[in-house]
Amino acid sequence: MATRDTIGVGVIGCGMISGAYLSAAKTFPVIDVVGCADVMMDRAREKAEEFGTKAMTNEEIYADPAIDIVVNLSPPLMHSEINLAALEAGKHVYSEKPFGVDAEDAARVIQVAREKNLRVGSAPDTFLGGGLQTCRKLIDDGWIGSPISATAIFMGRGPETWGQAPFFYDYGAGPMLDLGPYYITALVHLFGPAKSVVAMTKKGSEYRTFAGEVAPQYQDTYKPYDRYPVNVTTHLTGVVEFHSGVTATVITSFEAFAHTHPSMEVYGDQGSMTCPDPNTFGGPVRVLRNGDKREWQDVPLTHIYSDNSRSLGVADMAQAILNNREHRCNGDLASHVLEIMLAFDRASQDEKKIVLETTCDQPAPFPLGMMAGVLD
Ligand SMILES: NC(=O)c1ccc[n+]([C@@H]2O[C@H](COP(=O)([O-])OP(=O)(O)OC[C@H]3O[C@@H](n4cnc5c(N)ncnc54)[C@H](O)[C@@H]3O)[C@@H](O)[C@H]2O)c1
Repeated sequence: MATRDTIGVGVIGCGMISGAYLSAAKTFPVIDVVGCADVMMDRAREKAEEFGTKAMTNEEIYADPAIDIVVNLSPPLMHSEINLAALEAGKHVYSEKPFGVDAEDAARVIQVAREKNLRVGSAPDTFLGGGLQTCRKLIDDGWIGSPISATAIFMGRGPETWGQAPFFYDYGAGPMLDLGPYYITALVHLFGPAKSVVAMTKKGSEYRTFAGEVAPQYQDTYKPYDRYPVNVTTHLTGVVEFHSGVTATVITSFEAFAHTHPSMEVYGDQGSMTCPDPNTFGGPVRVLRNGDKREWQDVPLTHIYSDNSRSLGVADMAQAILNNREHRCNGDLASHVLEIMLAFDRASQDEKKIVLETTCDQPAPFPLGMMAGVLD
């Protein structure tokens, strides 16, 4: 088992995002990456060689006593199955987003973790980055007074030109479950848990068309320029009401060729703040305060981790295990974020305001003056 100051990690899923995790993991001494696995064994070998770890099977990861946390980087539809298998094997688990593709998925994982006295965590961890920690500090210290409202907007035409585009238009993804976790988690980080959602959602078309490239996993089914089905809504717009009284206008969309909205803004009774893209760790952060004569001020970041630090959430979980405290990217937060995201389609279909059933604690902010790689 891990030594007193190190937590053993096994990574499952060695696809596109795994390099960012395995690279950043090296900057956190609290994490020891014991091995990595993939159903496509050559991918596991390739990453193991690149990052100096061991290629393993999922079963070897579950059985290895040196591994405390399984980091699940598989595609969304596999998340719950792997999360449950890891928990059943007695491992803590940290999953990529979304935390499940439906509420039952997430609830089952939380329940098994509770029964087994194990931890569950989930991406995104970008709200732990220097940009969004600075926004939180400014709000908590009253720089824009009491927040009243916010906007959180992701809009684009969608990744239809990518070879693996069908992934993004299938169950478990779409603009809300794929990108929404960054925006909704950032809002909960800034304002605490939410109370209700009203929304309208739609699908722009029943099919999208491949560009010239088709990723290997789709080559048995599709040729370049074939069309593939859209199985999710692709324009979701609504308002999330927070218990703190803030209302946030949220749009996630794969139906806009271009737009000029900022990613996130917060409007308080003493000023406004523009926040960084919540799918990043850095800035910029700007405020315009009552009396600033309509000039926005750039705010230097108050916190570190402004580079791509995917693994920060895992490192925080590892340190939390050692120090017996709550980890920030926890299952309650992820389940609540998932319920908020799923409420957009529910509100639209049922034509009513959805009162949320889950809740969570507002994640504790990072303290000032942290040293790189040291979480507590
Ligand atoms: N690609 C990105 O930029 C990005 C960014 C942030 C988050 N994510 C999230 O990370 C997750 C993975 O995304 P990705 O882009 O790396 O996908 P990917 O398809 O490139 O990689 C997923 C990997 O998981 C493997 N896999 C599938 N089922 C498995 C199983 N049962 N056991 C072991 N391995 C299995 C696949 O073979 C593949 O190598 C998704 O949830 C995605 O939303 C991706």
